[in-house]
Amino acid sequence: MAFKIGLLGLGTVGTGTVKILQNPAQRHPLVQELELYRVGVRSPDKPRAVDIPASLITTDLESIVTDPAVDIVVEVMGGLEPARSLILNAIAHGKHVVTANKAAIARYGAEIFTAAEEAGVYVLLEAAVGGGIPVIEPLKQSLCANRILTVTGIINGTTNYILTRMQTEGGDFEAILADAQRLGYAEADPTADVDGLDAADKIAILASLAFGGRIKLPEVYCEGIRQVSAADIAYADKLGFVIKLLAVAKREAEALAETPEQLQVRVHPTLVPKSHPLASVNDVYNAILIEGEPIGQVMFFGPGAGAGPTASAIVADILNIAAILKVERGGSARLPDKPLLDPLLACSHQHYCTIVPIEALVTRFYVRFLTQDSPGVIGKLGTCFGNHDVSLESIVQTGLRDNLAEIVVVTHHVREGNFRTALDEIRAMKAISSIATTLRVL
Ligand code: NAP
Ligand code: HSE
Repeated sequence: MAFKIGLLGLGTVGTGTVKILQNPAQRHPLVQELELYRVGVRSPDKPRAVDIPASLITTDLESIVTDPAVDIVVEVMGGLEPARSLILNAIAHGKHVVTANKAAIARYGAEIFTAAEEAGVYVLLEAAVGGGIPVIEPLKQSLCANRILTVTGIINGTTNYILTRMQTEGGDFEAILADAQRLGYAEADPTADVDGLDAADKIAILASLAFGGRIKLPEVYCEGIRQVSAADIAYADKLGFVIKLLAVAKREAEALAETPEQLQVRVHPTLVPKSHPLASVNDVYNAILIEGEPIGQVMFFGPGAGAGPTASAIVADILNIAAILKVERGGSARLPDKPLLDPLLACSHQHYCTIVPIEALVTRFYVRFLTQDSPGVIGKLGTCFGNHDVSLESIVQTGLRDNLAEIVVVTHHVREGNFRTALDEIRAMKAISSIATTLRVL
């Protein structure tokens, strides 16, 4: 008996998913047992890139998630509502759910996974982070013997594309963003990508899986790439770095034994040493570097978006569920009303992780000042930083920009709170025209 799929959405990812379902040859034999049963869209008359019988298509998505014949609901419509309600309703009707919707999972994951646990159904989300890159399943299963220490990712393709072009062409952010929008690499409304919100959703999901607890999204520190200029890219290059939008989730070192859920979870543009494995991840590609004990470092690299790659992850999740259903249907061990969930595949964390505030972060900083070109300015900067326990690694003044001196400082590892207090004092100095950019250094 086939496994009936109710598909919510037939856009980029939905279409890619249908293409795999309609062409099962040379894939896993179980793909042949998946039946595209119903498809929910907003505009039924829109021309589609796949040939689907009109009888399967509906605008009544509620009727899909409540249809007793549907085994697995695949939510690839995006957005918060009605996606959240449809997922919850599908769960309430005993459907397993596969979703690519990082925005809904990052915000409503607690509600959705609690409901799924109670209903005894799976909600799988491999496509929600890193598109086609397998990273959710490895975190849940292949790496689960490890104590995860750090997850560091380039998990937004749009910003990686923009930063890569700024690096290779020397252009400024606004001009390259406009060109990326013209070429279709950036959305007309680029906010979620360039302001780091999409990466924040994704790192919240990865952190939850890596560290075994729920994450409150508003506690994830988030800075986008709008402040990064061609000048910063050029200075970083001279100093031996590239600038990447990194998403980081890290166990606090001193809390390793007693309070293992004390975490840093943050997204910000970062100077990455050119020798670091993430430095060479360019264009729209994504990569996630996971550090665990005892495995050491393992990196997942690949296409972070797009119809085919994302559908690859969606269908893998569908197959995971279908495989379990097949065993249940064929065996005698099935519990009649609430099947036991595979604990490696389900998400059953109950507690919330404690996220340490960004002021407590200890890191290196890069900061670019525009100042009057007068005697003593560098001395004043150095004294102020010193007064706040901020030790400097280098300070350079290479020239003038708009008749102002441009001074670039790189600090040693310092506490972010101290660094910010020093910057507040520096900002008030008469000789300082502006603090053009402040970036963290990996
Ligand atoms: P999309 O191209 O905009 O497609 C959305 C689909 O959902 C469309 O078919 C649309 O119907 C339908 N839809 C949306 N709202 C609806 C509503 N209220 N009622 C009925 N149908 C509705 O989106 P996408 O790029 O495929 O992305 C889908 C999800 O995958 C999102 O959560 C996204 O974040 C995630 N994702 C996307 C990618 C990617 O590369 N695109 C990668 C990873 C994850 P119509 O066609 O009739 O308008
Ligand atoms: N907007 C996302 C990105 C794609 O640029 O990476 C899907 O997650």
